[in-house]
Amino acid sequence: MQQLNTMPKLFNLDAMRAPPRIGNGITGDDIISVDQFDRAKLTYIFRRAEEMREMVLVAGGCDLLRGMVLACLFYEPSTRTSASFIAAMARLGGRIIPITQGVQFSSVSKGESLPDTIRTLEQYADVIVLRHPMEGAAHIASEVATVPIINAGDGAGEHPTQALLDLFTIKEELGHIDGLQITMVGDLRYGRTVHSLTRLLMQYDVNLRYVSPEILRLPMLLMNGLIDQGIEVRETHDVADVISTTDVLYVTRVQKERFSDPEQYEEVKNCYVITPDLMRQAKQNMIVMHPLPRVGEILTSVDSDPRAAYFRQVQNGMYVRMALLAAVLGRA
Ligand code: NCD
Repeated sequence: MQQLNTMPKLFNLDAMRAPPRIGNGITGDDIISVDQFDRAKLTYIFRRAEEMREMVLVAGGCDLLRGMVLACLFYEPSTRTSASFIAAMARLGGRIIPITQGVQFSSVSKGESLPDTIRTLEQYADVIVLRHPMEGAAHIASEVATVPIINAGDGAGEHPTQALLDLFTIKEELGHIDGLQITMVGDLRYGRTVHSLTRLLMQYDVNLRYVSPEILRLPMLLMNGLIDQGIEVRETHDVADVISTTDVLYVTRVQKERFSDPEQYEEVKNCYVITPDLMRQAKQNMIVMHPLPRVGEILTSVDSDPRAAYFRQVQNGMYVRMALLAAVLGRA
């Protein structure tokens, strides 16, 4: 023991772990809410995402994050978010600890607390992506973690990386964001992707339309935020009221898992269905988006319509998450 204490320190591990700051204001940060992103940071991430796409199309991948490890900790089901983070890390040459196939196979099923699980994973990983059913979970994790925490959805709270890829998709598809009329449809109350996208759009000069049943209206706090920002907002129960003037139709699933009363879910589950007939009333240069999974809100017969952008949106998710991981880990 004595000998160990007197051995010269070969490496300063803390210094090796601290990512170099590269001036984008994101390096080393937790990503908990979209409120952390001003327009300059968004522009930076989107530019990097475009570069990532070029790189993947030309070379398939690179070594930017070689030697780095991402832990993916998912307490709720996921296909796209988990797979795209894993693909993003893999394409940048990093490695992954995937705890995504049900935390029942981890010590969570033995009763381990979220802070203990986080403090364990940070011993192995340089960054942790967390999805959890409780609103505020990512913030709690960030308070105990010494490595960056990326919020991949905290209950009905936020889903910041989804909103980044949604906004990137709008920009890629339509060329700009200011001046657009954006309509969000479905579960505006529990849909965390709607909450994050709404917050992000507060920074732009857009018109927002919200279509939902009465019980699934956008939370008052967000509505008041929009009004305070001077954004023109309209609420309605009927997609037909707004479809012909819409540039972006953002459709969402009714979030069954957030309902305490199953009967209430049954009442609203099929409230909106986007059909080819409805699409005939829409602009020729509009787009339809959906964070997916869909459970009947958009008929599959709409998929062949060139305005159906939801699978292109999925692909953008990987490029945006590549850009975000590189930024958070300080690798330009
Ligand atoms: C969304 C989510 O998990 O909030 N999915 C996703 O991440 N792409 C939307 C949903 O589950 O309805």
